[in-house]
Order: sequence, then C-alpha cells, then structure tokens
Amino acid sequence: MIYLDNNATTAIHPEVLKEMMPFFTEQHGNPTSNHRFGRRAHTAIEEAREKVAYAVNAHPSQIVFTASGTESNNTIINGIAEGYSDSIFAYSAIEHPCISKPIEALKKRGFSSIEVSVDQNGLVNMESLNDGLSDKPTFISVMMANNETGVIQNMSEIVHWAKKNKAIVHTDAVQALGKINVDFEALNVDALTISSHKIYGPQGVAALVVNNKIDVVPFIKGGGQEKGLRSGTENLAGIIGFGKACERAAGNAVIFREKIKPLQAHLEKHLASMGAVVFGDQTERLPNTSFFAFPRLDGVTLLTALDKKGFAIASGSACSSNSNEPSHVLLAMGIDKDLAQGAIRVSMGVDVTMEQIKEFIVVLKSEVARLKQLAAMAA
Ligand SMILES: Cc1ncc(COP(=O)(O)O)c(C=O)c1O
Repeated sequence: MIYLDNNATTAIHPEVLKEMMPFFTEQHGNPTSNHRFGRRAHTAIEEAREKVAYAVNAHPSQIVFTASGTESNNTIINGIAEGYSDSIFAYSAIEHPCISKPIEALKKRGFSSIEVSVDQNGLVNMESLNDGLSDKPTFISVMMANNETGVIQNMSEIVHWAKKNKAIVHTDAVQALGKINVDFEALNVDALTISSHKIYGPQGVAALVVNNKIDVVPFIKGGGQEKGLRSGTENLAGIIGFGKACERAAGNAVIFREKIKPLQAHLEKHLASMGAVVFGDQTERLPNTSFFAFPRLDGVTLLTALDKKGFAIASGSACSSNSNEPSHVLLAMGIDKDLAQGAIRVSMGVDVTMEQIKEFIVVLKSEVARLKQLAAMAA
C-alpha cells in the first residue's frame, strides 16, 4: 500500500515514538502533582512547549496545548465571543468546518458573521474585504494553506487589512506547519492553530498559539491547566511527541521544497496530459498537494478503484469525507458542481519516492481509462 493521504494524517516518526514511550510507563505522572513524578512530567511538558514555540517562532508563554486543531479553532472562536460580546466574525469561504461551524453556532446566539469570498484560484478576495463588507469584522480567520487544494494565502495582505481595521486575526496553520515556514511573529497574527498529527506526531494533541494581549475566555473550564485557558490533565506523552515532531518540522519543510515539489510537478505534468483539471494550480500551493478531477469521472469511484490497487488517496475534503457532497472549497472557487464531484487529492509525505509516484501514474492512467470505458458502456 502506498500512502498518499498525508494531509489527512501522517504516520508517527520513529524518533517521535521513541521519545514518547517512557511517558506511557516509567515516567508517567500528573504534571500538577507535587511529587517527583509530577515535577518531572511538568518539566517535560515545559521542554516540549519550548520546542513547539521555537518551531513557529513564538514565545513559550504563547503556546496553549489542546487535544486537536479542531479544539484550538473552537477555543479561539468561542473565547473571543465570550471576551468581546460585540464580536463580528469573518472567515474565508474555504475554511475547515472547525472554523465555519463554531461561527455558524455563534450566529444562532446573535453574533454577526461574514463569509469572505475567494477567487477562482482559492485566494481570499481582497476587493471584497476592502469594499464589499456590510459590517466591519472585529475578528477574522483565514487559513494559511488549504487542506484540499494546498493553496497558500497571501497572509501579509490579510493581516495588513486586519490591523488597519483593528480586527483580531487568526490563522489556521495546521496544513502549513512542517511544509512551509510558519513564523508567528513575522505573520503578526494574534492567534494561530497547529496540530501534531499532520507533522509526524501523534493524534490527539495540538496547540493554539495566542498573543497574550487578546482576551480569550476559556472554552474548557476546570482545574486551570494551561494557565487556565484549557483545563484538563495534559496529554503528557502526546505533548512530548508533539514537541519532538516540531523539532523536525523545519527539516521536513526543506525536504518538501527540494525533494517533493519536483514529484508534484512530475505528477501534474502527467495529469495535464491525461486531461485532468488541477485545482488552484495558477497560484502558490503546498509542495505536496495536488487536488484534481477528470471531467465526468466520479471521485469516490476513482478513489475506491485506486485503493483496491494499493494507493491511499482522498476525495473531496478528507478530514470529513464521510459525505458525498462536492467540496465546499471547490464550490467557493466557482468550480462547476459536476467537476467538483470528481475531485480527488494526492498529498505526499516526506518519504514518498519518484518510483512510487511513477507507479501511481501508471495505475491512475489505467484505472481512469477503465472507468471511462465502463461509463461509456453504461451511457
Ligand atoms: C486546515 C485544517 N484545520 C484544522 C484541522 C483539524 O485538525 P485536527 O484533526 O487536529 O482536529 C484540519 C484537519 O484535517 C485541517 O486540515
């Protein structure tokens, strides 16, 4: 089986696992306990916090550990809603549902929200931000890189707009970290989300990086861990693993740029020759992601056929792909619904080889030809 679904999740790197193992057994301990076990656990968490902070050029005091990117995004949105009762929430039309859904829920509680449109390349429409808004948002969230298309936003333009309009700005950098440079300070955002299982760390641990100047009211309340911002006994081994994975993030970004980008170019050259449409290919994208469709070929059918042949890829939005609805990202980009229904995504990992991509291309060609023939016979 060749795994080409790394935007959905990645395998834990052996070094990460090795670092985690003792914390399941002999180095267990509740970081809030005052005995030796507790103190050691506390120290280990603080060391991991430093590693995570270093990976995104933030201060360790700005790192709040959570259980998922989803939780981090819910924490910032709900925390802002509680902290600023007159908040007006803006978010781009291509955000992950863990941004759009909590904002939709707040709308039912009386908050205002604005969905900001994107252009045909999947880039936030700056014109609509500048001129087309009915209200002035007080908070805006735009993802740094899209999980489906890999399209990288022009964050400096968006942050410039936000600061000019005195809006709090958040970016979901879950897909960006470990693939491109993520620098909290240089981005000049107020809050940023990252998640361990997208960078060869364990599932079930993530962080919200947050500027201490903004007033985020805790979403999960209880024993006061994480400076009161996220109560609950910490996922000790998970946090240790996340710290180790973060240590590897910058090196991985180099591998993606130097080794994986040429594989993406090779794949997409063949996709073009096969008549596929590659979404977002007119703008800068993550070096590992190709989201494409063949006209009149159903994406789920193709995914299933490729799975049988030993290739794990994704269709539509992989993080929540238990629905057959066409991708909201593609629809927001103005892609025709029928074409969007055919979308499949290849997201390469750092270990993928040219041989594997060549093998994939051969199988893809034959499966596309076979499915087209079947479709013609059925028509
Ligand atoms: C851009 C983006 N944000 C948030 C998430 C959610 O992260 P998690 O799986 O850690 O909840 C994902 C997951 O795929 C994602 O791709």
